[in-house]
Amino acid sequence: MADPAVAADPARAVVILAAGQGTRMRSPTPKVLHRLAGRAMLDLAIDAAQTLGAERIVVVAGAHSPEVAAHAASRLGEHAVAIQDPPLGTGHAVRAAQPALAGFTGDVVVTYADTPLLDAAAVEPLFAARRAGAALAVLGFEAVDPGAYGRLVLEADGGLNRIVEAKEASAEELAIRLCNSGVIAAPAKLLFELLAEVTNTNAKGEYYLTDVVALARGWGLQVAAVLTDEVRTLGVNSQAELAAAEAQWQDGRRREALAAGVAMPAPDTVIFAHDTVVEGGALVEPHVMFAAGVTVRSGAVIRAFSHLEGAEVQAEAIVGPYARLRPGAHIGRGAHVGNFVEVKNVTLGPGAKANHLAYLGDGEVGARANIGAGVIFCNYDGFDKHRTTVGEGAFVGSDTALVAPVRIGARAMTGSGSVITRDVADDALALERSPQVEKPGWAARFRARKLVGRAKLK
Ligand code: UD1
Ligand code: MG
Repeated sequence: MADPAVAADPARAVVILAAGQGTRMRSPTPKVLHRLAGRAMLDLAIDAAQTLGAERIVVVAGAHSPEVAAHAASRLGEHAVAIQDPPLGTGHAVRAAQPALAGFTGDVVVTYADTPLLDAAAVEPLFAARRAGAALAVLGFEAVDPGAYGRLVLEADGGLNRIVEAKEASAEELAIRLCNSGVIAAPAKLLFELLAEVTNTNAKGEYYLTDVVALARGWGLQVAAVLTDEVRTLGVNSQAELAAAEAQWQDGRRREALAAGVAMPAPDTVIFAHDTVVEGGALVEPHVMFAAGVTVRSGAVIRAFSHLEGAEVQAEAIVGPYARLRPGAHIGRGAHVGNFVEVKNVTLGPGAKANHLAYLGDGEVGARANIGAGVIFCNYDGFDKHRTTVGEGAFVGSDTALVAPVRIGARAMTGSGSVITRDVADDALALERSPQVEKPGWAARFRARKLVGRAKLK
């Protein structure tokens, strides 16, 4: 049976602020489209909103970065984008989302696209505070260095009285370590009523979102401060801060992997992506990089210095060292992919092996087939990609070029150095090279002639 308390929870909307200039990134790419764990920060913010069960999500973008608006629209639809033009402060930014939330009567939570470590778990307690009776709930943290953050001024009963921006704070208020993350939850109707009252008569001449707290208190409403770890609220304004956030994220992800039973002798050298799945019981050697879309099953081994993206590796398979798995690489149970082997859009059957220096692109390799050193699937003719099929138990000799589309039959063999352009039948041997010529004694005669010539010169 559904828990009535949960069933009674108001619907949720998330307003994601992304209208900042981001000039300190010193990059032509808008700040919130920079990636953390291989995913744009804006997407991470949208992911968190979706995990929170938001029925409406609005991204507030600036007029200066149409790419941000386009990115949000491509994921959520045009109706989910609000343009704040010009940016006049955080309160003004939230107001820009009001038309997009027309008809929405539930709770709104404001988050930030440049705060990539703020996951759903960090925001969820705000809704608990709302459930417990607070009209507004603000996410705060104990800052190591409160610096320019807004300070949370509490009341005797622990409720929040107001938020004072550092620029406006008295010396006494500046000494407060409890800071504002900027994340706030409130019923939509109330939030916009409060925002309509916010003015810009302050040090920055901006409409501060934070002013809604004191206004709500003035209306006799209760405001809760909910605390989270400072690291969750880490904002990104520069490449250095992005790298610091990435390091934090990787550190957490590595701990998770270790706790789940992934063997990693040098975890600090392993890079995960936001969606990497490595099952407990897998071994990941040093200096492995997972780009997006990788699944590694229990019992697989990813050896040192391998790069994997969009790939699946089954149990007992061994990948690397120095392997490159690209999107669509499916490495079957017990299959081996060795050093300097690149695999793209190829399924390697169980027990198949490609151990040295090969390119396998667009095709299929049957169970237990052996791909020799230097084999190339010539998949591209300059216009189209073509498929190569290698049958079960086939043996593709070293330095074979398989010119796709082409099929090597089950248990068939190809001679070393062959350029195979036509299908090879099951159990056949295909050879494509000129017959070897041997001239008995030729080398010895050649050498003798040369040595005589040298002697004459002296
Ligand atoms: C804000 C908070 C402060 C808090 C801090 C946490 C206010 C008034 N102050 O200060 O209490 O401690 O964040 O980092 O809210 N943005 C827009 N449009 C605007 C202005 C800002 O979209 O017009 C976005 C920015 O892109 C950024 C976020 O809002 O993601 C915060 O803006 P910022 O100017 O950095 O606010 P702070 O002064 O840091
Ligand atoms: Mg800021």
